[in-house]
Amino acid sequence: MFQYSQGKHNTQGHKAIPEGHFEEEQGRKGFFGPVSHIIKPEPSTRWVDIQGPLKPHLYDVVEMAKNHGVWQRMVFNSSVVVYNLWLKPSSTFEATRNADGDTLYFCHSGSGQVMTEFGLLEFIKGSYINIPKCATHVIVPKEESQFLVIESRSSFFREPDRGMLGKNAFYDPASFGKPDLDKLHTFKKQHHLDILKVNVRRFDTITTFTYSSCYFDTVGWKGDFWPFTLHINDLMPVISPRVHLPPSVHTTFVADGFVVCTFLPRPLETDADALKVPFYHQNIDYDEVLFYHDGNFFSRDNLHAGMMTLHPAGFPHGPHPKAVKAVEKKTHTDEVAIMIDTWQTLQTDSQLINVELPDYWKSWMTK
Ligand SMILES: [Fe+2]
Repeated sequence: MFQYSQGKHNTQGHKAIPEGHFEEEQGRKGFFGPVSHIIKPEPSTRWVDIQGPLKPHLYDVVEMAKNHGVWQRMVFNSSVVVYNLWLKPSSTFEATRNADGDTLYFCHSGSGQVMTEFGLLEFIKGSYINIPKCATHVIVPKEESQFLVIESRSSFFREPDRGMLGKNAFYDPASFGKPDLDKLHTFKKQHHLDILKVNVRRFDTITTFTYSSCYFDTVGWKGDFWPFTLHINDLMPVISPRVHLPPSVHTTFVADGFVVCTFLPRPLETDADALKVPFYHQNIDYDEVLFYHDGNFFSRDNLHAGMMTLHPAGFPHGPHPKAVKAVEKKTHTDEVAIMIDTWQTLQTDSQLINVELPDYWKSWMTK
C-alpha cells in the first residue's frame, strides 16, 4: 500500500503528539513492515473489562521452586523454549550437551565459570552465555546463580543485521568473552574437577554418557563455531535525542522465528515534542516476553527484578497511566530488561500458573 492519511495530526511518528492525545502504532513484522500511527484522545489500554483468553500475563519467576539444576520450562513454541534455571556450588558436576538446540543463558544473579570443550568462559550477573548446539559444557557457579535460559530450536543465534549503523553498533563483536583453553586446564587442576558424566538433552529427554576420564581434554581447536559470552555493560544503546526509536534497535541476537533484545539504561529524548515512553501498539505479528532483570521499571507499576510478562499478539499495550505522568520528571531510564519476540504463538507451561499474578490485565485501568 502507499502512504495515505485522514483527519488531523498526521505528521512524524512519535513526535508532536497533540496535548491530551495518544499515538498508537499498528505495524506488521515487528517494527519493519507497513505501519500506521493512529491519534486518539485516549489509548486503547483504557478497557473497563476483558472477557476471553487474550489477556496479558505477569509471572514472578523469583517465586519458582528452587529445584537446583533443573531446567524449569516457562514458555515455548516450536522455535524457542524459555526456562528458569537455578544452580548452586557443588563439589561434583556433570556436563550438559544440548542436542535440542542452541542455548543462550542470561545470568540474572550469581557468577562463575563455564567449562567448555573450547576453553573456559567467565560470567557474572548480566552476562549472556551463548553455547552452540551440542557444545558440551558445565556451568560452575561461585555462588547460587539464577539464569533465564533461551533455547533456540530453529537455528543458531546470529548477530543482528546492523544495516546503516555500521559494524560496531549496539555492540562490537570484539567485546565477546572468548573461551580460553589454558585457563580451562588450570581451572580443572585447581578445583580437582574430573567431569565423567555428560547429560545429553534430545527430544526433552536426558541420556547420560559416562566416561572413565575427564571429558574436557581438548588440546587444540580451530573454527568459527564456538561458545562466547557478552555482558550487558558492553552493549551501547542506540538512541536519538529527537525521536523515540523502536525496540528493534536493541536487538541483541536473532534466530529463526524470534529475536532477543536488551533494554538498557539510557538518556531519554530531549526534543520538547518527542514521545518519551514506549508507544502504544499491539505486537500484531509477535508474542512478546519481557524479563525484568534490574533497575527501576518506570513504564510499569509494581514490578520487581525477576518478574516476566507475556503480551500475546493482538493485545494492545503501552505504558501504564502513572508512567505517562512520571516521565515528565525523568531524564534517563535505568531499567535492564530482556525481550523475546516470537513469530509463532507461545504456550505457557503449567508450572507458571503457580507464580502468576492474575490481575495484571487490570494494571492499565485507572480506577
Ligand atoms: Fe510490544
